[in-house]
Amino acid sequence: MTLENKTALVTGAAGGIGSAICRKLRANGVRVAAADRELSECEAEVHLPGDLTDRTYASGLPQAAYNALDGLDILINNAGIIRRGPVTTSTDEDFDLSIAVNIEAPFQLSRAAIPIMAAQGGGAIVNIASCWGVHPGPNHAIYCMSKAAIASLTRCMGRDHAHQGIRINAVCPNEVDTPMLRSGFEARGLDPDTAIADLDQSVPLGHIAQPEEIADVVLFLASDQARYLCGSLIEANGGKAVA
Ligand SMILES: NC(=O)c1ccc[n+]([C@@H]2O[C@H](COP(=O)([O-])OP(=O)(O)OC[C@H]3O[C@@H](n4cnc5c(N)ncnc54)[C@H](O)[C@@H]3O)[C@@H](O)[C@H]2O)c1
Repeated sequence: MTLENKTALVTGAAGGIGSAICRKLRANGVRVAAADRELSECEAEVHLPGDLTDRTYASGLPQAAYNALDGLDILINNAGIIRRGPVTTSTDEDFDLSIAVNIEAPFQLSRAAIPIMAAQGGGAIVNIASCWGVHPGPNHAIYCMSKAAIASLTRCMGRDHAHQGIRINAVCPNEVDTPMLRSGFEARGLDPDTAIADLDQSVPLGHIAQPEEIADVVLFLASDQARYLCGSLIEANGGKAVA
């Protein structure tokens, strides 16, 4: 892929999908600035730790990455949280934190990154939404709402900033084998390995996604191979519909 010598900022870089994205970007010759709360294990040229609910931190990340890497070609808005349950069992804190991390942080980061990319002549932003933001699943009302919002924001920004040479798209995964998914099984008292083996049976391709399978789609969208895609939502679901 045509990514060699590009520069990228990745949020949620220490997580399951984020760390796979960082590894693959670096293997393709991209210099990476990684953002997360705790980054000791993360492969990247630059670590920019912090909490994305802090607006000053989130909105300052693109310039910090630009300064550290001497450029900012790619922004991957990957950090996210999941709060489970219908609205009747959801707390104000579930609502506020989901809005802050899943919607406001990508908004702050994108708003700050777009002028930097425009001044360079273009760039690419890839958001990690979810199949559940496009086709809502059961008992995750706030999560689905927040992912629908980032999917919609992606389509709006993709249209609004194409004329600046900035391509903004999203990947919408179904289930991915990461700490986010495993923690849900643990919270329900299930063994994650057994639960994932069961879940694999529900996917027409035969397994839920590994983080690398999502990272490959992210790299495609970030690369010049996706040069005609703006505001697209790419579902990566192994053939499994949201039931
Ligand atoms: N795992 C799945 O099944 C799945 C499916 C569809 C979409 N997604 C999306 O993929 C993205 C990555 O999720 P993952 O599965 O790798 O989860 P993960 O929990 O492994 O990683 C998420 C990362 O985001 C970081 N993060 C969360 N809140 C933060 C905050 N306030 N400040 C800074 N960093 C923060 C976490 O520290 C973590 O490293 C998320 O946006 C998630 O919603 C995941």
